[in-house]
Amino acid sequence: MTPAPPPVIRRGHPAAGTPPLRTPASKAAPGQPRPLARSVAALLLVALAWAVAPALATAQSGAAATAPSRPAMPAAPASAERSVRPGINDPYRDPRLNVRELAEGFAGESREAYAARFDVLRAMALKPGQRIADIGAGTGIYVPLFAGAVGPRGRVYAVDIAPPLLKWIEATAKRQGLAQVTTVLGTDRTTNLAEASVDVVFSSDVYHHFEYPQTMLADLSRALVSGGTMYVLDFERIEGVSSDWILGHVRAGKETVIREIEAAGFELVREVDLPVLRENYLLQFRKR
Ligand SMILES: C[S@@+](CC[C@H](N)C(=O)[O-])C[C@H]1O[C@@H](n2cnc3c(N)ncnc32)[C@H](O)[C@@H]1O
Repeated sequence: MTPAPPPVIRRGHPAAGTPPLRTPASKAAPGQPRPLARSVAALLLVALAWAVAPALATAQSGAAATAPSRPAMPAAPASAERSVRPGINDPYRDPRLNVRELAEGFAGESREAYAARFDVLRAMALKPGQRIADIGAGTGIYVPLFAGAVGPRGRVYAVDIAPPLLKWIEATAKRQGLAQVTTVLGTDRTTNLAEASVDVVFSSDVYHHFEYPQTMLADLSRALVSGGTMYVLDFERIEGVSSDWILGHVRAGKETVIREIEAAGFELVREVDLPVLRENYLLQFRKR
């Protein structure tokens, strides 16, 4: 289980796979090169310099993983969406993140998202063989449950933006013998899941962590099969009712969340009625 196996889009390394160049000039080495051969050789030298310059510059700047491979390559249009909550994921990016401590905190019975896990799982009625993506899987409280429900022929993609959390999930799944679990390193703007690669998308306590909700919703729609299902478990945010912590931490209430998700091409199927949920709601959507 590695962060980017088959269903994950791999980005090519800019310096990868550049074959050694054999020029016609080198083939004509025994004699003095003729004028035409000299021009061809010169042209090829220019082409070679054009081809390797970005890779050399990249290697010198130490930014190999992110640099473009060719200056003239058409770039994907950058998302114009502004962050709706800058810094909300800083704790997960902190190199001092204590994953063990976080795992204990996330798996507390006083936390609804955890306490309700079996009810949530039952309501989702997953089927053997299905492929589900747990977006913002964190320390993976739902991962073994999903793995059990979809079985060894199904697939659970645990997606997160924090590599230490994925490492934790990977180690746990390995210990539990859950070969159907695959961790996937996403970013603020993409899951890195391949197109139409999952039947179900799930997120627990994550929607309000999306800095770029429109971009993420478009990406989730892309990753889902047509007619696929999406579940969103998140905090109720009601002025005058919710705690100060929720009002400060969660940017939008349920109605806004529903509107945003519908605008991204989903239809609300139902709000799942679970008595165990008092501070949270569970919404089921269908990709239109
Ligand atoms: C509050 S935790 C919830 C973890 C887990 N779902 C649970 O309920 O225990 C939020 C998680 O979302 C992740 N996250 C934030 N933005 C994300 C994004 N755009 N894509 C994937 N994961 C994201 C964070 O790294 C963090 O692990």
